[in-house]
Amino acid sequence: MAPKTQIGDLALFGGKPAFDATLHVGRPNIGDQKRLLRRIEDILERRWLTNNGPYVQEFERKVAELLRVKHCVAVCNGTMGLEIAIRALALTGEVVVPAFTFVATAHALQWQEITPVFCDIDPITHNIDPSKVERMITPRTSGIIGVHLWGRACDVEALEALAKRRNLRLLFDAAHAFGCSYRGHKIGRFGDAEVFSFHATKFFNTFEGGAVVTNNDELATTIRLMKNFGFAGYDNVIYVGTNGKMSEVSAVMGLTGLESLDEFIAINYRNYDQYRRELEGLPGVHFLTYNETERYNYQYIVLEIDEAATRISRDHLVQILHAENILARRYFYPGCHRMEPYRSHFPHAGLLLPETERVAERVLSLPTGTAIGPEEIRAICNIIRLALQNVEAVNMRLESSWASREPLRGLAEDM
Ligand SMILES: Cc1ncc(COP(=O)(O)O)c(C=O)c1O
Repeated sequence: MAPKTQIGDLALFGGKPAFDATLHVGRPNIGDQKRLLRRIEDILERRWLTNNGPYVQEFERKVAELLRVKHCVAVCNGTMGLEIAIRALALTGEVVVPAFTFVATAHALQWQEITPVFCDIDPITHNIDPSKVERMITPRTSGIIGVHLWGRACDVEALEALAKRRNLRLLFDAAHAFGCSYRGHKIGRFGDAEVFSFHATKFFNTFEGGAVVTNNDELATTIRLMKNFGFAGYDNVIYVGTNGKMSEVSAVMGLTGLESLDEFIAINYRNYDQYRRELEGLPGVHFLTYNETERYNYQYIVLEIDEAATRISRDHLVQILHAENILARRYFYPGCHRMEPYRSHFPHAGLLLPETERVAERVLSLPTGTAIGPEEIRAICNIIRLALQNVEAVNMRLESSWASREPLRGLAEDM
């Protein structure tokens, strides 16, 4: 692939797109296809497709072992896992959550008529700021949900201390953090429970899926009942419940993926390392790093674009990349507090969320995973460098062209 050398080469200004097929931020990783298909054949022969089948049980056992946690309850997706965990923890009234997260964190509460109270983030870690949680607590507060954003753990110790002192339940949305650690321990054992997402866009997937993990026996029993309509046995419903079950086909995708987990992480790390080296020293571009003393899955390549230094907006850079068929994403723009129904419920929430607002304006997430390699990353970084090193000419063209009015491509195009 010949590198682009002048701004006329950029697809937004008439050049040929760098890629014929779209590069996604998270294209699904798939383990050994032959083993997967063999397991699917087995499911079909056995005709046990769902309802706590043998593969789901094996998957739960293996995840619990991997995370060194007592209980793993596999569920049909991460959102359902959050909803069930929230209900099993008997959360009510208000729950403190970050606004800088995927909207499912807030919706899982609102769905049950519990009010998400948005708390600001730490501008460095992008995680909920424990020093700001306390001021969001009211007599109606029943819990806190921390989100381990980008797979980088929240300040677990501070949140656990606060939850204990204020007698609140503590749940972690660990949707991004499968395989990651906090102080040398795999994420999964912290707070009252932690919830993973195994959605296709995550580095480890079960098509759709998720899991609630906990060391609390009683909570695990309640979650198991709730995910299966409250059935404690044939014809014996003892609890209000829903259908949160994981299917056998999802479980075998998970079991097969688990066998390649280290490989997925190694590829993500290789990509991360290359991006970091290639983007080093670009003024105004802050590359989010992972602390080498912990374990990570490196599934998010995150840049912060400081427009005052780059003199080009994050959104214009996204537009340039999209025209090249590089589907960079503005995760988690514009913040949950600016989405419905929260925007209408709390129109001034942003006043208490200055860091969330600032970070949401700056973050850009780039493609990674097993679907892309060194050549693609080199081309992506070259395009970013070309745009930033010719910023005046780029801005002039943007101002004068239709390009600046082209809407950004959206979520519907994700895998
Ligand atoms: C932070 C966060 N929480 C929750 C979810 C919801 O998970 P799922 O898509 O499996 O329902 C996601 C993403 O999908 C997420 O990124």
